[in-house]
This record gives sequence, structure tokens and C-alpha cells, in this order.
Amino acid sequence: MRSLTKASITALAIGLGLTVFSTLWPKEEYVSAKAEETDTAIPEPGTALYHAYQVAKELGPIPKFTCSDAVVIPITQNGVQVTEEVDWCDNPAVFGEPCDPTNRVGRYQGTYENGDPRPEVIFLTFCRDGGLGVIGHNSETGATAFFSIEEGGRSYGDVPGPNDPGYEKNWQPPAVVAADNCYKCHMADPWLHTPWIDQVRNPENPKESIIPYTADKTSPYYILGDGFDQPLPQPALDELKGNSCIKCHRVQCIPEFFNYELGDITTLTGPLQLHYTDKMADDLAALNAWCKAQDIQYFSGK
Ligand code: HEC
Ligand code: HEC
Repeated sequence: MRSLTKASITALAIGLGLTVFSTLWPKEEYVSAKAEETDTAIPEPGTALYHAYQVAKELGPIPKFTCSDAVVIPITQNGVQVTEEVDWCDNPAVFGEPCDPTNRVGRYQGTYENGDPRPEVIFLTFCRDGGLGVIGHNSETGATAFFSIEEGGRSYGDVPGPNDPGYEKNWQPPAVVAADNCYKCHMADPWLHTPWIDQVRNPENPKESIIPYTADKTSPYYILGDGFDQPLPQPALDELKGNSCIKCHRVQCIPEFFNYELGDITTLTGPLQLHYTDKMADDLAALNAWCKAQDIQYFSGK
């Protein structure tokens, strides 16, 4: 356990960049008090806390996430909401258990250090199977961060944020998150729209899905943090030349183990109904073939 002297605090502040430092630990007394309780007073590269600092430089202060703030994603049968898991439902989840009524999605507005809102930065939480996954994205710069709690980690109630003792124990180190290859599903852009998750509305504008629409052909998207690969090489123009599936956004593959296939694209709702046209059938087939040929590994060891 380390105790922080004034000199080492200054060194730490310089090392981390004063902005990040002052965001995370507003007062010196607070620093010393917390340092007593935390064994990672100076986070080492590769740790969850170090990753949080790196991300905060690009996205601003990391909110204190908890599934208690998130909204249940409805499971319905013929329009009637159910509370027990069922074997069919109107809008199945695309990935994982299709009709599990306990999953939730939450949204946090990014801010500057002084607390002013930063409209281009959004963090979304996803609570499924006892886990808590987070994506943060700056739609102006494209900077994107993925986080996930440790297996069996705390996801409801007082989940430790980067200012709290216990952060390191609760959140996976970046190498473990990276091995989950989040970006190979979150591919065209960070956000995945599906009829199931789009049922939950943006608390600030109920006309919109809680999931932002940011994808176009050139919307910036890159991943923050050591050890994360960059998004898949998108096909060179001549590989899928003239294919309408890359007219509006980058390639989005949908692996066969999903609850829908790319061929079921007619199930997209709201603004995504534009996909509902037979005119794109050949392009869809060509895209499917391209996706299969990539032999993408979605999880480590698979
Ligand atoms: C195998 C594919 C796959 C992988 C890998 C994956 N996701 Fe997702 N994720 C999805 C799908 C599909 C949805 C949309 C919900 C649905 O219908 O299942 C989603 C939704 C989300 C959401 C809600 C916001 C949104 O874009 O809809 C978050 C947050 C999220 N995932 C985080 C993560 C993180 C963090 C990782 C890596 C640790 C990850 N995901 C890896 C498929 C995946
Ligand atoms: C006229 C424009 C347009 C065309 C053409 C188009 N899309 Fe989309 N598509 C969109 C928009 C807009 C979204 C929502 C983007 C976002 O996530 O911000 C979207 C979303 C998606 C999604 C949901 C996942 C996600 O990233 O949100 C899939 C899958 C998808 N498109 C596949 C396809 C396929 C396959 C084709 C070709 C058959 C195609 N698109 C052609 C505009 C288009």
C-alpha cells in the first residue's frame, strides 16, 4: 500500500495530465484518503484504472455506471409485456437469450471536467446475464471505448467508478475486454440497432431510440486503449463495388449464431425500415458471402 506525499501527487498529476487528475480526484485530502484504501494509487499500464485514465483524456470524466440506472428492455408476446422468460417473443434480442426480460440498457451524457454537457459524447450500458458492458463514443472524433465488469463483479447498486476503491477488482483489464472483440460485432459504427433494443427510448427525446444514430460512410470510429485492435479492415471499394450495403454505412456483418441472419434485415424497425426492399437482395447475398469469407473470430479461443 502506498501513501501519497505532496511531491508524488504532483508527479502523478503531471504524469496523468492535470485535467484527468483533477477530474478523478477533486481534492488533495480525498486523494490521500482514497490512496489508503486503494492498492493502485499509481495505476500501471495494462490495469483497468490506467485504461480508465486513458479513456477519460478523450471522452471526459467516466460516469459512475450502474445497472440500477438502466431501463428494462421489454419482452412482449402479441404486444403484451411479460416478466418471465418465454420461448418466443415479438422482438427477440439479436444476440444471446432471445426473450429474457431481465436485460437493461442505460444512457449517460458525456460531460466536460466542469460538469457541462458534451453532446458529442455518449456512454451506453448494457446489462445482460449478470454482466455490465459499456461503450463510450465521441461522435466528432470517433474515439470509442469498451468496458466490461469482471465475471461475478458488481453490476447493480454502488458499482465502483474510477474514483472509488475496488475499481480494479470490479472491472476487467483492457486486454481481457479486447479479447472479447467487441468491435467485430459493433462493426459499422459503435452502436448496434435492433428492434428489441430500439424499443427503449432516449430519456431526453422519447421520439428517438436510446441508441444514437451516428453511422454513415465516413463517420469516424477508432478504439481507445492499449491492446485493442482497430475496426476490421473495411472492404476496398472494388471488392464490393456498387453494393448498396456500403452506400450509407460501412460493412455490418451479422454472424450466423445470431438470432436473426443478415437476410432477416426486413425486421429492422423505425428509420431502419429503409432496409426492407427486395432491390437489395443481390447486394445482401454478396455482402453475406464477403462476411463469410472473412472468417471473423468473434471471441478469443473460438
Ligand atoms: C457476438 C457479437 C457481439 C459482441 C462480441 C459484442 N456485442 Fe455488444 N451487442 C451485440 C448486439 C447484437 C447488440 C444489440 C442488442 C441485441 O439485440 O442483442 C449489442 C448491444 C450492446 C450495447 C448496447 C448499445 C448498442 O450498441 O446497442 C452495449 C453497451 C454493448 N453491446 C457492449 C459490448 C461490449 C463492451 C462488448 C465487448 C466486451 C460487446 N458488446 C461485444 C453484439 C455483440
Ligand atoms: C439508404 C441508406 C442505407 C442503405 C442502402 C443500407 N443501410 Fe443499413 N443502415 C442505415 C442506417 C442509417 C442505419 C443505422 C445506422 C446507425 O447505427 O447509426 C443502418 C443500420 C444497419 C444495420 C443495423 C446495425 C447497426 O449498425 O445499426 C444493419 C445490420 C444494416 N444496416 C445492414 C445493411 C445491409 C446488409 C444493407 C444492404 C442490403 C444496408 N444496410 C443498406 C442505412 C442504410
